[in-house]
Amino acid sequence: MINTPDYDLLVRTGPGAPAGELMRRYWQPAALSEEIPAGGAPLPVKLFGEELVLFRDEKGKPGLLGLHCAHRGADLSYGRLEDGGLRCIYHGWLYDSTGRCLEQPGEPAGSTFHERIRQVAYPCTEAAGVVFAYLGPGAPPILPSYYFLTGPDECTFAHKYYHDCNYLQSNEGNIDPSHLSYLHHFLKEDTAAVPWSEGSNGAAVSSNTLFGRDTSPQLEADETDYGVRIFSVRNAGPTEKYLRVTNFIYPNTGNSRSCGRRSPWTGPR
Ligand code: FES
Repeated sequence: MINTPDYDLLVRTGPGAPAGELMRRYWQPAALSEEIPAGGAPLPVKLFGEELVLFRDEKGKPGLLGLHCAHRGADLSYGRLEDGGLRCIYHGWLYDSTGRCLEQPGEPAGSTFHERIRQVAYPCTEAAGVVFAYLGPGAPPILPSYYFLTGPDECTFAHKYYHDCNYLQSNEGNIDPSHLSYLHHFLKEDTAAVPWSEGSNGAAVSSNTLFGRDTSPQLEADETDYGVRIFSVRNAGPTEKYLRVTNFIYPNTGNSRSCGRRSPWTGPR
């Protein structure tokens, strides 16, 4: 990994780091919705170097709190979901999803000490099977209505990978069209793969097969108000072209869409 002051400025996203402060001003994926099923255990997560706990309260609403209890620092991922919030199992302090302390069982009756306690808390929302969190200052922005977040359930699936690299290296790979012809092409068609189209010989083919049919795609890129849009056009057969459009959406989102088209082809625009 390159290690220069400029590179570190770009990729360090921990608390207080400039890139981290930038990232925190956008909704960011925190977990898959299925990781916090109704009544399920709280989930410890680490976002931008900050240790947090994600849970689903009794009304089904996701909540994101600092991992360590404001009292004595106990790990709240061992807490219990009850009485409208997450209860620390050490002395029983109860927090709601906004970080308010609702109860302190060890305090004398009538104590208002709990009203002065605020656990670190961040807003959450859900779309397309993903829990998103806003870790920035002030009110969160509107969650963008990208099609991949708003499409019907039958057209959407959510998954996650662990990448042993920083966000920039991962996104650089996401938007790199050329590597598809080697890393992702099928040496032999996978009949279980989702077909792209009926090919000229009548056989269904997958995108992964088409990647390998043309190892030097025609590339063009547009700078947009949200980032970069990259077009790659491959020869897919005697009379067919395969177009893939990849978007990099600042600061750390990428997506791709593909389609086929018969010749004559006049370029990606
Ligand atoms: S450490 Fe959580 S209530 Fe005491």
